[in-house]
Amino acid sequence: MNVTCPCCGERGKVTFERSFDTTTTVIEIQKLTKTFRKFTAVDSLDLTIYKGEIYGLLGPNGSGKTTIIKMLTGLLQPTAGTTKLFGHTLPCKSIMNDVGYMPQDTAIYIDNTVHENLFFFGSIYGISKQRLEKREREMLQFVDLQNWRDSLVSTLSGGMKHRVSLACALIHEPKLVFLDEPTGGIDPELRATFWEYFGSMVKKGITVIITTHYMDEANRCSRVGLLRQGKLIADGRPSDLKNNTRTNSLEDTFLALAGRKKP
Ligand SMILES: Nc1ncnc2c1ncn2[C@@H]1O[C@H](COP(=O)(O)OP(=O)(O)OP(=O)(O)O)[C@@H](O)[C@H]1O
Ligand SMILES: [Mg+2]
Repeated sequence: MNVTCPCCGERGKVTFERSFDTTTTVIEIQKLTKTFRKFTAVDSLDLTIYKGEIYGLLGPNGSGKTTIIKMLTGLLQPTAGTTKLFGHTLPCKSIMNDVGYMPQDTAIYIDNTVHENLFFFGSIYGISKQRLEKREREMLQFVDLQNWRDSLVSTLSGGMKHRVSLACALIHEPKLVFLDEPTGGIDPELRATFWEYFGSMVKKGITVIITTHYMDEANRCSRVGLLRQGKLIADGRPSDLKNNTRTNSLEDTFLALAGRKKP
C-alpha cells in the first residue's frame, strides 16, 4: 500500500495492521494542556488521528486519558493548545452531532427505562422517530439487551448499565466516537462482540478513540498512544512500538519506555 506512515513519515513500504485513511485527518491536536491549579494533568499533547483509525489511549490511572477525552468532546476547557475536529477548531457546536461519547462514569438516567434513555439521547441529535426505532433495535441487539428494553436502568447490573451507556453513545451513528473504557466490567464474550462491532465501524470509515487497560485490546488498535503523567511518551502501531523497544508485550513496552523494570 502506497501511504505515508503516521509514525515515521516514511512513504511507500508500510503495511498497516488495520488500514486507515492517512489522507483524511479527523483530529489535529497541538500543544493541548490542562492544569488543575498547579497540577498538570495533560502536558503539551501533539497528536494527529486519521479517518477510520481505532486509536488507543493507554496509561496508568491518573495519566490523563479521561482529561484528554473530555477536552476533545468540549466538556472541559483546555488551559492551552488547540484541537481541530474535522477541520473545525474547538469549541464548535456544529460538528458535535457527528461525535459520540461514552464517558468512563456511566452518565445515563437510572430512573428511566433502557428504551427511554436510547430515545432521549437519540432525540438530542434530532433523529426522526422512524430512524430511532430502527437504531434502537440495532443497538439493543448489539449490546444484547433486547429483553431489558422496558426495564428501569436502576434495576440492571453494573455491566448492563455500561452496555446501555455504549448504546446511547452510538445511537445517532456518529462519524467520530470517544469510548472511555467501554469494556470495563464487561464479560469476555460480550467484550469480543464489542470489538467485532468496533472493527465494523472503522471499516465504514468511522474513527474511534478508545481508552483501555486491557493489553489484548490495545494490540487490536491501529495505533496507540502511551501516556505517563500527562505526557505522550510514545505513539505508533503496537507492533512497531514493541519492535523498537525489543519487547514482547505492550505492558513491557510501557515499562521500557517509562524506564522501569518488570516487577
Ligand atoms: N476536575 C479535576 N480537578 C482536579 N484534578 C483533576 C480533575 N480531573 C482530573 N484530575 C486529575 O488529573 C489527573 C488525570 O486524571 P484522568 O481522569 O484524566 O486520568 P485517567 O488516565 O483517565 O485515569 P484512569 O485510568 O484512572 O481512568 C489525575 O491526577 C486526576 O486526579
Ligand atoms: Mg479515565
